[in-house]
Amino acid sequence: MAEFEKFNFKDKEELLKKIEELNLQQSVFWSDDLKALQKALVKDRLTIPNRMAIHPMEGLDGREDGAPGDLTEARYLSFARGGAGLIWWEATSIVPEGKSNKNQLYLNPENKAEFARLVAEVNETAEKANGYRPLNILQLNHSGRYSAPANKKKPLFLFNDPYSDDKAGISEDSQPVKDNYLEILKDKYVTAARLAEEAGFDGVDIKACHRYLLSELLAAYTREGKFGGSYANRTELIRSIVAELKSLLPDFILAVRLNVYDAIPYPYGWGVDRENQEIPDLAEPVKLVQALAEENVEIFSITAADPRIHPHIVRPFNNSIKGGAQPPEHPLEGAARMFTLTAEIKKEIPDKIVLGAGYSWLNQFFPNVAAGNLENKRADLVGVGRMAFAYPDFARDILSGEQLRKEQGCIACSKCSELLIAGGPTGCVVRKQNPYRELYQKKVKGKDK
Ligand SMILES: Cc1cc2nc3c(=O)[nH]c(=O)nc-3n(C[C@H](O)[C@H](O)[C@H](O)COP(=O)(O)O)c2cc1C
Repeated sequence: MAEFEKFNFKDKEELLKKIEELNLQQSVFWSDDLKALQKALVKDRLTIPNRMAIHPMEGLDGREDGAPGDLTEARYLSFARGGAGLIWWEATSIVPEGKSNKNQLYLNPENKAEFARLVAEVNETAEKANGYRPLNILQLNHSGRYSAPANKKKPLFLFNDPYSDDKAGISEDSQPVKDNYLEILKDKYVTAARLAEEAGFDGVDIKACHRYLLSELLAAYTREGKFGGSYANRTELIRSIVAELKSLLPDFILAVRLNVYDAIPYPYGWGVDRENQEIPDLAEPVKLVQALAEENVEIFSITAADPRIHPHIVRPFNNSIKGGAQPPEHPLEGAARMFTLTAEIKKEIPDKIVLGAGYSWLNQFFPNVAAGNLENKRADLVGVGRMAFAYPDFARDILSGEQLRKEQGCIACSKCSELLIAGGPTGCVVRKQNPYRELYQKKVKGKDK
């Protein structure tokens, strides 16, 4: 691992030099030609107008009944105007007790119409601004060990994990959730997916990443009973949800955002070498994506790690959150890891759509690196999270052949994450000062006093 450095490339040559110096030529590619990002993706019944996606970014700005709030609406309308071909809507709870925060979105029969209204508005706004609408995928989630529905930790965890029990608020006398609780979740996912279809979404993501419930379950080696131990037991719930959705909602797009590498030691982490957690072992993740692909999952979004434990793996950054450690590696190595994990999965499911992450740290150079990955068939789509908060018009500028403006881009300062940790609402404190700067002063800085 190379020493940590902040992003400081003035031009393409400096970035290419660093790629060579860190020996990353096999995982970070460059293209001067951005056409690969501009092309539509048409596959069977599915059309994505360009290859740029907005990753799910929890805003914690919903109403207490789970419906989108004013800031949620403003964010999605700015994404719509921005022209990305795919909007992957943020983590939305399937049950009230699985919310991560009292203002997390939660889709239910009482507020379905509010979601429907916003999806319609997003599509209309996008059509008017760009002449096309995005594909809208809603991320369905249960926060599991990170549940905090009233802003107080109420972990619904699956097994004790010495790496995150403290962070999740799990004490010695806390008990893991019972199998019968997990058994009822399949129906909850199905109900939420039905509501999402009725609300006008094109598809849903059965989220299994970042160590929320379905992601934690994949690593439940030490759990007793029917959901723990063997590969078949640990993957049963996600496979059965997807199989049920395929038969009940055959025209609805199924997607999965998946951790393929947890980065914590076995037997607590998934997708890791059993002797050395720093090395990914993709044998099980590949087996699972192939099984899900057979069940009609059409889009896979590849990600890794628990952001609370290894934020630099999920989102390479320049500044850590307050009190956070400086990463043990160069952020470009973090981005390269994400690109390689995505490429490894793409290779195994060539007929499916694979979406990659890890780009925002590259700021104005992200489109060239993204186009390099697309040209080399290492992904079908590329997405950004923090960059979309900072510069929601990124796709529109790329489509019109303009260079991204560095001074509008993400500086990977982690302030949006600090706001998230403080309970939100969150957005870009640097580029969208109104209202996020004031919120940051109040919620993050205010806590210092
Ligand atoms: C404030 C914030 C909220 C996020 N919310 C979600 C979420 O709801 N669902 C999810 O899968 N990932 C979430 N992520 C992770 C992002 O989708 C993305 O994977 C990560 O930021 C890396 O992409 P980037 O480098 O383009 O920002 C969030 C990240 C941040 C910083």
